[in-house]
Amino acid sequence: MTEISERPVKKVPTLRGKTIVLFFHEPSTRTRTSFDIAAKRLSADSISLSASTSSVVKGETLIDTARNLEAMNPDVIVIRHSSAGAPHMLASILKASVINGGDGMHAHPTQCLLDLMTVRKYKGSFQGLRVAIIGDISHSRVARSNIIGFTKMGAEVVLAGPPTMIPKGIESLGASVTYSVDDAVCNADVIMMLRIQKERQRAFLFPTEREYARVYGLNKKRLECAADDVLVMHPGPLNRGVEMDSVTADGPYSVILEQVTNGVALRMALFYLVAGGLRNVDD
Ligand code: CP
Repeated sequence: MTEISERPVKKVPTLRGKTIVLFFHEPSTRTRTSFDIAAKRLSADSISLSASTSSVVKGETLIDTARNLEAMNPDVIVIRHSSAGAPHMLASILKASVINGGDGMHAHPTQCLLDLMTVRKYKGSFQGLRVAIIGDISHSRVARSNIIGFTKMGAEVVLAGPPTMIPKGIESLGASVTYSVDDAVCNADVIMMLRIQKERQRAFLFPTEREYARVYGLNKKRLECAADDVLVMHPGPLNRGVEMDSVTADGPYSVILEQVTNGVALRMALFYLVAGGLRNVDD
């Protein structure tokens, strides 16, 4: 799939005649665009729908909206929703394949897969890797999916951030916790910084952005303690100067834009699996 995206003509006929609906209840730049590009590169017909321009604003329920979309016989529905479990609920009532494009604070599985793809490209294997996930863990579906994904693949995951942003019991997913970013970064092979999700916060969880950047942000000085070939990652969107300074975000260790590039190939592969070549395989 990566190679297709590098051709002068970036299109193959694999999913010709398939219909893919992108139903996004929350804003998105990377996920929505890359799903759309992925569908088009495989010659599927994709249609994009936002909550703000759909009949959701007139009071139609999620289930009614989904059933009406299904009445048009799509093959795949990609959904992003502010409620945890919305994609799972739709998958249980619809015939179309449902892909989770991010649900509330619960999960962002395709982000996890593209992050794994990015790390594997550089590191080859996950065994023995130390992966530090730093920032607003509480509100992060990316953190939850990546804790599960990276530990499943054999990496050690350490979480760091303000105590107000690390939920009690998160260790049960298989990660360890520290409140010191310096401890987390020391000898890390991968550092994944997370955005402060102001839109999901119902309380003031840190005094000021300036103080957050000083105590919990990633900068050149902090990186000195990491592995020599450390990868700096961020799922985006980035609050520049808060969780990470520009020198680090745009520096030689950063693979942030490669994560975005890999997202297209990863989502092409996913469409292929659910709507293409392996359609008749039972699992
Ligand atoms: N990583 C990610 O989910 O970004 P978007 O919100 O822009 O899709």
